[in-house]
Amino acid sequence: MELTKKSALRGEITVPGDKSISHRSIMFGSLAQGTTEITGFLNSADCQSTISCFRKMGIQIEETPQKVLVHGKGLHGLLAPSDILYAGNSGTTVRLISGILAPQPFSVVITGDASIQKRPMKRIIDPLSLMGADIKSQLDNGCAPLMVTGTPLHGISYSSKTASAQVKSSILLAGLYADGATSVTEPEISRNHSEIMLQAFGANISTADKTVTILPAEELYAQKVEVPGDISSAAYFIAAGLITPNSEILIRNVGINKTRDGILRVAKEMGGNISLLNERVACGEPVADILVRSSALHATTIEGEIIPTLIDELPVIAVMAAYAKGTTIIKDAAELHVKECDRIYAVTKNLQAMGACITATEDGFIIDGGVSLHGATIDTFLDHRIAMSFAVASLQAEGTTVIEDPSCVSISYPTFFHDLNALS
Ligand code: S3P
Repeated sequence: MELTKKSALRGEITVPGDKSISHRSIMFGSLAQGTTEITGFLNSADCQSTISCFRKMGIQIEETPQKVLVHGKGLHGLLAPSDILYAGNSGTTVRLISGILAPQPFSVVITGDASIQKRPMKRIIDPLSLMGADIKSQLDNGCAPLMVTGTPLHGISYSSKTASAQVKSSILLAGLYADGATSVTEPEISRNHSEIMLQAFGANISTADKTVTILPAEELYAQKVEVPGDISSAAYFIAAGLITPNSEILIRNVGINKTRDGILRVAKEMGGNISLLNERVACGEPVADILVRSSALHATTIEGEIIPTLIDELPVIAVMAAYAKGTTIIKDAAELHVKECDRIYAVTKNLQAMGACITATEDGFIIDGGVSLHGATIDTFLDHRIAMSFAVASLQAEGTTVIEDPSCVSISYPTFFHDLNALS
């Protein structure tokens, strides 16, 4: 995919549904009694991986362009799959489903692609084992394939070392089946979509400061779920609109949950002209239209509790920082090493190839922005967020930028290049 510099980006866009919320709607819908109706569902490779896992466990899921219907069979309705469960590239699928599999009355293997087989799973194996679960990394390397042998679980109080919604959600889902209360305390608050949606499905779940507690449930009940647009996908258009002169982009219907809105706070802090319009709440999730206009950006420091609220946006924030005046420091983000690829390495390598002054640190980056960038060949490491971030970087780079393996955007945003093109 070859991309060149743009003189303006103008128009309206509706980004696809939130990936985290879409996964959860299939999972909780499968475990509920009755038919869950999902609108705004993200039809992407990652969410299809979750659908495929539940179909293999006997759940009927109907997909139409307007909605997805999940014919749930209740908390105890899953069937033993005749095959291994395959999660593709999706960490959310492996980690959350492991929490659901641990208490089932059957055994199953769950795995995924080459990237998934390198991602750390000890972070869920450890707490689930404390609950009594029997989960083994088959290669004994702390990664998938995971062999899960279902067994009764007990409630625990767990202090997680990482702020991770995948770890928190995995434990809470196991907690639905435990013999007593289960609580998870995080060092910083991670995205809370599981808490919001589990409560709507009838679970007894409560949050106090950084601790979430769930009680064992008799049943969950089917719901209508409206999935808002994904702020992680909107982030590319926020950055694109800010760095491209003469631009004005209206991004409609974006989820702006406080546990996800770090990109908005940082973009404003960098001098970005961003307004929220038409703020509302849908299925417990705050939503707004976001109006972005070109802005002269300046550097900032990003660290501490804001990090989990923008963890997936850090690659594109690094691109914004390369176009901003001054030195931006990003720290406390060592988690970037263990995403779909090592995003500290991938961002540094590719921004350097475009002529930026960026230094990788153990837990982030130091970026001396405002140096003019030039086109380069971008190694995406097959990571959707690297591909989209560097498509944004190309918009103000001199010459041609070549994105290798651009089809990896299908993980979270299959129509990304089409949508970006439509604005120019
Ligand atoms: C997600 C949580 C985050 C995020 C991922 C989706 C989720 O991962 O990076 O893209 O849906 O719970 P961690 O839990 O590893 O931080």
